[in-house]
Amino acid sequence: MRRVVCPGSFDPVTNGHLDIITRAATFCDEVIVAVAHNVSKRALFNADERVEMLAEVTKAQDNVRVARFDGLVVDFCRANNVSAIVKGLRAVSDFDYEMQMAQMNYSQAGVETLFMTTNPLYAFLSSSLVKEFAKYGGDVSGLVPEQVIDRLTSRVQEQ
Ligand code: PNS
Repeated sequence: MRRVVCPGSFDPVTNGHLDIITRAATFCDEVIVAVAHNVSKRALFNADERVEMLAEVTKAQDNVRVARFDGLVVDFCRANNVSAIVKGLRAVSDFDYEMQMAQMNYSQAGVETLFMTTNPLYAFLSSSLVKEFAKYGGDVSGLVPEQVIDRLTSRVQEQ
């Protein structure tokens, strides 16, 4: 079985993430969306909430499942018999750090990383920017899945 992992913080999931997950699901048997529990940046949503939102927005996709992980992504891969990580690259600015992580993950654990180019429609999109936009009253429809809009707008208002 060809199983890949799409790891990330997903705080919250955006339409850019969803595009990568959906496209990855067309060329492999199973995609595990792995939600990092301990993100260094202060998260707006806790890990359970981020998992819940992802499960909701991917529920129609039979070969996608969502899990959370602590620690190294390569340990998660090993424990789940995953041979490759799939990452979206939005711009050249993503490349340096992503390549460094990919090489570290391959050299230390033999886990491959496959890069997919982000759909140009979402090339500017990041969870951080979406949170900031929502915080100051911006309209986030079209940027995050429908199921996330209300949760995001009410959470930023509570802050
Ligand atoms: O959505 P993000 O914040 O870009 O996701 C980054 C993430 C969580 C995928 C990355 O930081 C990660 O894999 N963290 C787990 C710890 C790890 O394995 N780090 C890589 C060391 S080379």
